[in-house]
Amino acid sequence: MGTTSPATSRSASELTASSADLQPASLRYSLVQRCRSLYHGLWLRLSERVRWSRRPYHETPVGHFSDLAPWQTTRIEALRARYDAGFESRYGHHTALANYAYLDVLDQAWNATARPIPEGGRVTDVGCANFWYALTLHKFFRPAILTGVDVEGFRLYPTGYSRYDAAAGYITDLPQTSFVVADYSMLEEQADVITAWFPFVTPAPVLAWRLPLTLFSPERFFLRIARNLAGSGTFFMVNQGLEEADLAADYCRRAGLRSQGQWVHPQPLRPRPHPPVASWWRI
Ligand SMILES: C[S@@+](CC[C@H](N)C(=O)[O-])C[C@H]1O[C@@H](n2cnc3c(N)ncnc32)[C@H](O)[C@@H]1O
Repeated sequence: MGTTSPATSRSASELTASSADLQPASLRYSLVQRCRSLYHGLWLRLSERVRWSRRPYHETPVGHFSDLAPWQTTRIEALRARYDAGFESRYGHHTALANYAYLDVLDQAWNATARPIPEGGRVTDVGCANFWYALTLHKFFRPAILTGVDVEGFRLYPTGYSRYDAAAGYITDLPQTSFVVADYSMLEEQADVITAWFPFVTPAPVLAWRLPLTLFSPERFFLRIARNLAGSGTFFMVNQGLEEADLAADYCRRAGLRSQGQWVHPQPLRPRPHPPVASWWRI
């Protein structure tokens, strides 16, 4: 696992900036938004400076689920059997259920659209948070190399462990897997498969995730995905609901990616306010 500095061959300033990007922040965001952004920026910089890390953090396994609806139990049993996934013997209730939910999205989306799963390649997940779903990506893509990238690596949790510690715990025992702390918009990392689960395409969630708005640049983010994707590679994205998916699709197209299809989850394993919308892209 490494907190590498992004290896850039082209500077961010070379990337195309949209007219919104060029507007001063004072015109784009309200005063309250700018104050919150400044505050989050201070904490982010402080956490980067301190780089707090104790040791890999491992959750206490829930063992088995209680309080699930019969249809959820049936679906989880099917996923467990198909992918040899026993998340509940590794993680607490929330993380275990969330992993089944992501595996369920992958499994149903690929099956519903009858696509061959691109196994055995280099897989990068962009905006992976603490990479709590690294095992799910392993089970599904069986990657030769799996890299999770997030711009925030050292957020401190109430447990006294940092995001870095949590990521180290989640990737323990996963071969050829790393957690990289970097701004993906500036990272040179070729991949056969790039995945993005709920990337930011509007500013409000950036603040809700306690990050500064200076990090919000979807144009550069999606352009970098297009640049890092191998010629025959696949970009797989999941968004919250159709409205967000449409916005994200617009950024993809502007970055030069070509749509290969979309699929809306009819019954997510974990209920959400908006259904997960999966989409596939190529360069
Ligand atoms: C909505 S969260 C989704 C987290 C994760 N994919 C999940 O499904 O739980 C978006 C994540 O993207 C990360 N992020 C935002 N901009 C980024 C950038 N330029 N480079 C890398 N990570 C970024 C944020 O730190 C945050 O963890």
